[in-house]
Amino acid sequence: MNETVAAPPAHAPSYPADRTCPYALPESYDRLRRAPGSIHRVTLYNDRTAWVVTGHETARRLLADPRLSSDRRTEGFPRLSPRAEATRDRRPPFVGMDPPEHGPLRRMTTGGFTVRRVDAMRTEIEQIVHGLLDTMIAAGPPADLVTRLSLPVPSMVICRLLGVPYADHDFFQDASSRLVRAASAEQARAAGDDLERYLDGLVRQMEGGQRSGLLGTIIGEQLEKGMIDREEVVLTALLLLVAGHETTASMTSLGVITLLEHPEQLARLRSDRSLVPGAVEELLRYLAIADVATGRVATADIEIDGELVRAGESVIVAGSIANRDGAVFADPDTFDIQRNARGHLSFGYGVHQCVGQNLARVELEVVFTALLDRLPTLRLAVPVDQLSLRPGTTTQGVDELPVTW
Ligand code: HEM
Repeated sequence: MNETVAAPPAHAPSYPADRTCPYALPESYDRLRRAPGSIHRVTLYNDRTAWVVTGHETARRLLADPRLSSDRRTEGFPRLSPRAEATRDRRPPFVGMDPPEHGPLRRMTTGGFTVRRVDAMRTEIEQIVHGLLDTMIAAGPPADLVTRLSLPVPSMVICRLLGVPYADHDFFQDASSRLVRAASAEQARAAGDDLERYLDGLVRQMEGGQRSGLLGTIIGEQLEKGMIDREEVVLTALLLLVAGHETTASMTSLGVITLLEHPEQLARLRSDRSLVPGAVEELLRYLAIADVATGRVATADIEIDGELVRAGESVIVAGSIANRDGAVFADPDTFDIQRNARGHLSFGYGVHQCVGQNLARVELEVVFTALLDRLPTLRLAVPVDQLSLRPGTTTQGVDELPVTW
């Protein structure tokens, strides 16, 4: 297999870029979008080059192409920061595997996330959200929405979904919050190890007795039948936790900012709650918070849109740019809760398309509806340009969101 080219061509801009606005494309992404073609060479932090896919159609074709691999153990798999290097030698969960290894592991989780199953959780999610809002409102303004609402909602939902016992919720929430907010690879590793140890103990406990939630199902249907080992159960639980936690939290925080910064769209939503699902879809398109999640490495030469991606080269599908392809979404930089935003790539596409997307949609619908109902005067407590945005190498979001009402 060819090595990814070490010395970048002079015209390859660095990637990813930090956002300077919670919802606008960074300038360098806008330049990539406007450049001719739908796939471009960029330079990563370690001076290696990669291909970035900016066109919507090319993105879908490549994400469905079996010649692109998700295997994180492969040399050419794109690493966007030193923190990502830390995971190179670890056994990956199924998001980092290819077919045929990937399918059976993915399928053991999908039953927990069907539209029917997730809809059945709606009332429980409403209780969680209203409980958190009760506490926040009782404490009075101002409040940090991230710690009061954005992070605990997905954490509590995943606890219930997996079957984590109620008595362990505090530990589980604290360790998962440390994991997703870790400032360094060491902190992330320490929190990850705590959770892995905890989940390993929980799986062992469930093997011997009472079991509940998706973990209980996986233990009964897979582990005890010898189809997978205990480490795979633990890795899968950790994947669901990490994949579903920070993403949903970021969508809540950035979604609130975006709505508050577009008062005419917010007013429409206030006057007609049936617009909430469409608004969530448009927020998903517009914010594309997980556009660093869709990295791949080519396992064969691929000719696409006049370019040759060579075997071994890194490919990153930039959902944030592809979601703003004017050929698919008219007037793509306009935030319009009444447009048809379906077809966005914020949940990926192809065999790795997000397992938890139905759950994420319901969580976000419930959160935004509750905020509209309970805090009609909600506003930012600091000017939007004073918010500190997470770096471009991570899931987009804010670590703190001071609000008042
Ligand atoms: C995969 C985004 C919420 C579980 C993905 C991928 C993206 C994504 C872009 C594709 C990765 C790839 O192609 O390599 C998001 C966003 C979310 C969200 C934006 C929230 C708004 C969730 C939730 C869960 C979840 C709530 C579960 C609790 C997963 C899993 C995968 C995945 C397990 C791997 C699927 C596979 O490899 O087959 N997600 N996600 N996600 N997501 Fe999500």
